[in-house]
This record gives sequence, structure tokens and C-alpha cells, in this order.
Amino acid sequence: MDQVGLWMPRPYASFDRRLVMSQLSPVLSDLYPGATKWLDRRLDDVEYGTAACRLIRSGASLKGVTIETPKGQNRLKLSTLWVGSDYRRMGIGRALLDACRVRWVERGLESVTLTADTSAASDLGVLLRRSGFTVAKIERDRYGEGRHEVIFEWLPVRDPLVDAPAAAMSPAVSPSA
Ligand SMILES: CC(C)(COP(=O)(O)OP(=O)(O)OC[C@H]1O[C@@H](n2cnc3c(N)ncnc32)[C@H](O)[C@@H]1OP(=O)(O)O)[C@@H](O)C(=O)NCCC(=O)NCCS
Repeated sequence: MDQVGLWMPRPYASFDRRLVMSQLSPVLSDLYPGATKWLDRRLDDVEYGTAACRLIRSGASLKGVTIETPKGQNRLKLSTLWVGSDYRRMGIGRALLDACRVRWVERGLESVTLTADTSAASDLGVLLRRSGFTVAKIERDRYGEGRHEVIFEWLPVRDPLVDAPAAAMSPAVSPSA
């Protein structure tokens, strides 16, 4: 069943920490050296209010998560956009990204970057391109030989939301996620 529009991400709360660490840390560790420590520090930042995390969970299952890290006043990095493998192609990734984009447009951000390993970039690419991102650069061998990183960049002028009527910027109605 197509569930696009049914998911509503909510802000991370400290009680989510154990679940996010247990499910996201192994995924990121496969991609990046030092990922567990990085994630721990990022969640500290989220709890101090200097980074943002949104998620969709159902009980003990983390369905999807975003982590945003500010880069100065008007830019940020979407450090993580991830949907659990059992929950893909149900609209969760789109719901997570849409919730971010609405805030980026409202805040008048100048740009947002997301870097992804080439193995994740093909899944991410379709969703990102529809949402105002393009490939800005490819950093070859960034984390070792053959481990290239694709750097996507979002600009407001490229985002279809910017010209959308106000109704399109209202959050989706949620199920019991
Ligand atoms: C990319 C990702 C977030 C997509 O999440 P998702 O919940 O499956 O995405 P959605 O169901 O919302 O799909 C939105 C659109 O993206 C596109 N898409 C998503 N996965 C795709 C795939 N594997 N191939 C082609 N297109 C894809 C489709 O166009 C889809 O629209 P459609 O359903 O109308 O065809 C998910 O595959 C993922 O988390 N991949 C791993 C990313 C990763 O490693 N992140 C960690 C480092 S940042």
C-alpha cells in the first residue's frame, strides 16, 4: 500500500537515544570510521539544542531518522537521512526530507549539503533530485581507496516547495507511528 503522506516525523527526545544508537550506529559504522563516537556526540548536540534530529519510530523499531548539523547562520548539513531496510519505499524517506525542507524554506536557508557513500547515493539520488538537490562534487577515495563520497547540495531556488502554495507546506497527517 502506498503510505505517502501518512508519516509524520517527530523531534528526537532523550528516551530515543538507546534506539537510535543501537539501530543507526551499525549502519554508519559500515560506512564511516569513528561513526559510533560521531553519533554519540551528535546526539549530545541534539540534546543541547545545537543540532536537530527527527525520527519516525514504532515501539522498538526505528523506521527512519534525519540529523541536521548547522554550518553557520544560513547553511546546514543534513548529516543523516536513513530509513530502515524493512520500511523502504513506503514514503518514509520522503516524509522525513519534506519535514526538513519545509523548515529550511521557512528559515530562509541559503544551502544544505548531504554527503553520501556511493553505495547509498543511488537510492538517495532520486529522492534528493526531486527535492531541490543536485550533485555538487564527488570526493574520490575520501575514506579509503574506492570509497568515494557524493556531495549533494540543496538550494532554495531549485526546490519545488518554494513556489508551492501555502497548503503544500502544511505537515502531513500522521498515523500511530
Ligand atoms: C534513500 C532512502 C532514504 C529512501 O527512503 P524510502 O523511505 O525508501 O523513500 P520513499 O519511499 O519515501 O521514496 C521516495 C522516492 O525516492 C525514490 N527512491 C527511493 N528508493 C529508491 C530506490 N532504491 N531506487 C530508485 N528510487 C528510489 C523513489 O522515486 C520514491 O518515490 P516513489 O515511491 O514514488 O517511486 C533509503 O533508501 C535509505 O535510507 N537508504 C540508505 C541511505 C543511507 O545509507 N543513509 C545513511 C548515510 S546519510
